[in-house]
Amino acid sequence: GTTRFYNFKVETMRITKLCNTKDIVVVNGMFPGPVVYAQDGDRLIIKVTNESPYNVTIHWHGIRQILSCWSDGPSYITQCPIQTGQSYTYEFTVVKQKGTLFWHAHVSWLRATVYGPIVVYPKTGVPYPFRSPYQEHIIILGEYWLRDVVQMEKAVVASGGGPPTADAYTINGHPGPNYNCSANDVYKIDVIPGKTYLLRLINAGVNTEHFFSIANHKLTIVEADAEYTKPFKTDRVMLGPGQTMNVLVTADQPIAKYSMAMGAYQSGQNVPFQNITAVAYFQYQGASPNSLSLPATRLPRFNDNLAVKTIMDGLRSLKRGRVPKEIDQNLFYTIGLNVEQCHSPTPQQNCQGPNNGTFAASMNNVTFVKPQLAILEAYYNNISGHFTEDFPGVPLKFYDFVNGAPNNIPNNTQSLIGTKVFVLEYGTRVQLTFQDTGTISTENHPIHLHGYNFHVVGHGTGNYNPQTAKFNLVDPPYMNVIGVPVGGWAAIRFVADNPGVWFMHCHLDVHQSWGLGSVFIVKNGKGPLQTLPHPPADLPRC
Ligand code: C2O
Repeated sequence: GTTRFYNFKVETMRITKLCNTKDIVVVNGMFPGPVVYAQDGDRLIIKVTNESPYNVTIHWHGIRQILSCWSDGPSYITQCPIQTGQSYTYEFTVVKQKGTLFWHAHVSWLRATVYGPIVVYPKTGVPYPFRSPYQEHIIILGEYWLRDVVQMEKAVVASGGGPPTADAYTINGHPGPNYNCSANDVYKIDVIPGKTYLLRLINAGVNTEHFFSIANHKLTIVEADAEYTKPFKTDRVMLGPGQTMNVLVTADQPIAKYSMAMGAYQSGQNVPFQNITAVAYFQYQGASPNSLSLPATRLPRFNDNLAVKTIMDGLRSLKRGRVPKEIDQNLFYTIGLNVEQCHSPTPQQNCQGPNNGTFAASMNNVTFVKPQLAILEAYYNNISGHFTEDFPGVPLKFYDFVNGAPNNIPNNTQSLIGTKVFVLEYGTRVQLTFQDTGTISTENHPIHLHGYNFHVVGHGTGNYNPQTAKFNLVDPPYMNVIGVPVGGWAAIRFVADNPGVWFMHCHLDVHQSWGLGSVFIVKNGKGPLQTLPHPPADLPRC
């Protein structure tokens, strides 16, 4: 492979959207940020200089970071943040990966504006496993706030209450005609009748899962989380934050201007939702530019769980026979939302969550707290006091509200609050079953594991039952985010063959702020290529 160099300057930029002018944090003066192009096997060297007023880190979402955990990017997990005026160089090799991924800030909720695509092409001479598209386009779904997102996160955590919804949803940064002052702030793809296009879809959104569809057109899913899938034809797709998907679409409809629309998927019953859709145009050559666009009537209702299940059921890996048949470590994690006693950093009389408590989230009844020093640094240098190795592999308690949230909110259910990690020996074959639960409501959670792709061997509604659960060990999708169904379960398998410290968390940022995460430490192996190298010299200091 080649070595490719990029310079990322993180800075503020004045922007006008929705009749409002404000400063946002961006990379290289672009919103969305620059595309990182690479080819399978390339080495990437990306120097990030922080000229913004906030601490930042950049995460290369979905890049496996084989033996380069120091370059993964989650703040306080693998590195301390890059402070204002400082820089840090991320260096990694793309090993046996190709497809659509993305990079994003991994500090506070800065991902709201600090994100951009990663496009990895196959090695030279290796074709796509489908007919070459006429053109490729990147479509990034996002969420835009008029408020300062860093202040907003602080306020949400301090109050204990729920998050405000975005002021607009966006497609490649553009809200589209359904929003105030946005009639001309619309993204558009010009298409030629009869041609087939590859759309590289990315959900960079912060706190919402999203449906996407194009009026009158079928989408054929050919890739999910940068892994080829068996072609699957559908009217719409759903992407949780962190998910990417490639779809083929053929301009085979009458000449017109069609809308590409993005709308919220909000599976939780008590969640306020934003029902305005972001719209972009899919415009045929020859269509009058001033004609009205045909609406994307196939966008499901905001709580259409069946639509989501149908898409998930349709995902099959193109490659067969890669799933570990045996497992060494069988883990079971409950994930979900709860209400804890008020524990805001600035103690108040009452918190604004239910029951005068604070909204919280936990995995196996542990609410994850980010430490003061990056866990990888503490682990590597044997500095004690920043984490403990006692994360429970099975839940301490099981709150089953699968059949609907209770009528009365139960007393505040205090979870353990701490920085607990689970340690895996190199090479362990892991099965991990997630059970969605919660004491206030259940909802679909996009759980992301850093440093790995995993086989999604099973998923279903209700409580996981080992007697009746059906597993696919032949051709399950190979992903880095799994949307655990609302009130349901999902099981994944992976081999712990990449030493380092790996964050696993809900990719809805508000849930991450509430503690819906945990960490795996994967120990070095014995072989020469099984040991994490030394930290880079310019590793940021806390
Ligand atoms: Cu894309 Cu830890 O995140």
